[in-house]
Amino acid sequence: MADLVLKDVVKSFGPLTVIHGVNLQINSGEFVVFVGPSGCGKSTLLRMIAGLETVTSGSIHIDRQDVTQTEAAERGIAMVFQTYALYPHMTVRENMGFGLKMTGTPKAEIEQRTAKAAKILELEPLLDRKPKQLSGGQRQRVAIGRAIVREPKVFLFDEPLSNLDAELRVAMRVEIAKLHNDLGATMIYVTHDQVEAMTLADKIVVLRKGHIEQVGAPLELYDNPNNLFVAGFIGSPSMNFLQAEVLESTIGKTTVRLPAQDNLSVDLPLTTAMPVGKAYKLGIRPEHFDRDASTALKVTVDVAEHLGGTSYVYARNSGGEKLVIEAKHDRDTAAKSILQTAFDPVRAFLFTESGERVR
Ligand SMILES: Nc1ncnc2c1ncn2[C@@H]1O[C@H](COP(=O)(O)OP(=O)(O)O)[C@@H](O)[C@H]1O
Ligand SMILES: [Mg+2]
Repeated sequence: MADLVLKDVVKSFGPLTVIHGVNLQINSGEFVVFVGPSGCGKSTLLRMIAGLETVTSGSIHIDRQDVTQTEAAERGIAMVFQTYALYPHMTVRENMGFGLKMTGTPKAEIEQRTAKAAKILELEPLLDRKPKQLSGGQRQRVAIGRAIVREPKVFLFDEPLSNLDAELRVAMRVEIAKLHNDLGATMIYVTHDQVEAMTLADKIVVLRKGHIEQVGAPLELYDNPNNLFVAGFIGSPSMNFLQAEVLESTIGKTTVRLPAQDNLSVDLPLTTAMPVGKAYKLGIRPEHFDRDASTALKVTVDVAEHLGGTSYVYARNSGGEKLVIEAKHDRDTAAKSILQTAFDPVRAFLFTESGERVR
């Protein structure tokens, strides 16, 4: 277990800067997830922490020691990648122990650590198999086992489940959560999948174009996104955004008009007085529509998906904006019909033109 601090970390590849001064504190034993769209810099950040990529400027500290210039092998970190890269000619046991063997660890200790990791990962019956005799999920467990035997201070995972099919991904996600509970180790996990982030993380770091957009516990980000990007990224299906015009605004009450939603007028109980203007966006989560809420609206249904436990209605308003509405108790809505629904302004979000949240 170790804590980890990033100070003003910048990474450039030649003239291209891909990480723009990242500051982050990760506490000992925490499960931190870096999430963001493809290309936002998640792997680059992780590789700098691992020591597989140099840092252009800034510093990285593990347990209050500056490791910015420390060799990867000396950092006490183990990394699990998307591609498991097991040695095909070695058994599971040999694959797991290979790293320790290379560093001259005594044989008895290798055996003891391998046995312990195999038990945690339920790999005991597979120890004498070769990788080609394993399923994708089993191979990924061996790759995780290889990290566990090293008893690292920090575990790094770079999209470890992306190569697995959907069902297996859910099962492995649960196993990784359990592994964190069992080991209590500091773990940093990279994914582009916000559901993985929500379910695994103690703390989520939302990245976009090499900047941190927001850091917080999963439900903190869900309930209180700082900006339109986080609001749209966290939550599935995504938050709906409607064009909104601020007609008047005082502390405690901001009146907006929704031009594409039959010019609906809504009073939002915001604590900030905002300038009058057209370029705002109103955000409503699909699950926050509720027939019994205060502010009624209607939309034209394109498609309704009735999943049994809940239904998702894909619809358009009078101005042609697309909305996704979760209708929990609705099993009847059909395509081309008009859906009457409602929302509570207290649960709606307002964003400025540049995407800042208005509180
Ligand atoms: N070795 C490299 N040389 C040049 N550009 C790179 C290199 N590695 C990554 N990049 C660029 O850095 C950005 C971030 O990449 P990456 O960290 O892999 O994103 P992510 O893991 O979030 O998908 C991308 O624009 C990518 O093209
Ligand atoms: Mg990546």
